[in-house]
Amino acid sequence: MKPVGSSVFPFAFALLLSFPWATAAHTHENFLQCLTLSFGNSSSISEVIYTPSNSSYSSVLQFSIQNPRFSTPATPKPLVIVTPSHVSHIQAAVNCSRTHGMQVRVRSGGHDYEGLSYVSDVPFVLIDLIDLRSISVDANNSMAWVQSGATIGEVYYRIAEKSRTLGFPGGIATTLGIGGHFSGGGYGTMLRKYGRASDNIIDAQLVDVAQLTLT
Ligand SMILES: *[C@@H]1O[C@H](CO)[C@@H](O)[C@H](O)[C@H]1NC(C)=O
Ligand SMILES: *[C@@H]1O[C@H](CO)[C@@H](O)[C@H](O)[C@H]1NC(C)=O
Ligand SMILES: *[C@@H]1O[C@H](CO)[C@@H](O)[C@H](O)[C@H]1NC(C)=O
Ligand SMILES: *[C@@H]1O[C@H](CO)[C@@H](O)[C@H](O)[C@H]1NC(C)=O
Repeated sequence: MKPVGSSVFPFAFALLLSFPWATAAHTHENFLQCLTLSFGNSSSISEVIYTPSNSSYSSVLQFSIQNPRFSTPATPKPLVIVTPSHVSHIQAAVNCSRTHGMQVRVRSGGHDYEGLSYVSDVPFVLIDLIDLRSISVDANNSMAWVQSGATIGEVYYRIAEKSRTLGFPGGIATTLGIGGHFSGGGYGTMLRKYGRASDNIIDAQLVDVAQLTLT
């Protein structure tokens, strides 16, 4: 992508077009530099970030866009997609976004109707939790630990692998990401007897990023 040449357009117009581009590019470079510093390992960062020049960028972005209305060339795209594989990657991504004035969008299954988990009108970073999706079922104690990038279908599947009698009351769309599904309530066919998904959450691990903003 190049700024429009001033020889073709009046100078002021060219300036208007190229300014947001230059700012975005600058912000995005600073963001990447910040991430590299935070990770302390540039080879591990290169495995979890996708910039638009990466050949996989589009497929990673499209993968969980559930509403085709937000899958058009005109839809604003993230400057960087981060697919954390460790909690510290989330902290670094949030920290660096704040430092460099970029909004953060967090996506699990992408089922939100308004595209809010992967669209923004201002420069933004998409933190896609697709690689934080482990599910550990303790059937003896009727409990499970689930990471927020897992889908509700995967949760049902892993429970069914361990037990023929246990279940979990959530929605019926199996590609729902549990991050948004649980935080929004989560109702489905077991609602009358067992309530919503959120009624059956007994503990949660939160990623603390507040301390990182005290500079
Ligand atoms: C957060 O970002 C600031 C500014 O880039 C950096 O100095 C700091 O080391 C970062 N902290 C963490 C924990 O990543
Ligand atoms: C950097 O990350 C890569 C990939 O995760 C890992 O194999 C390597 O050991 C790490 N290097 C250091 C110095 O931490
Ligand atoms: C695209 O990004 C992924 C994830 O960061 C990385 O593993 C891959 O090497 C990149 N590919 C190219 C062509 O840059
Ligand atoms: C679950 O309970 C059974 C029967 O008491 C026992 O054999 C098994 O080891 C337990 N599994 C786990 C993972 O604790």
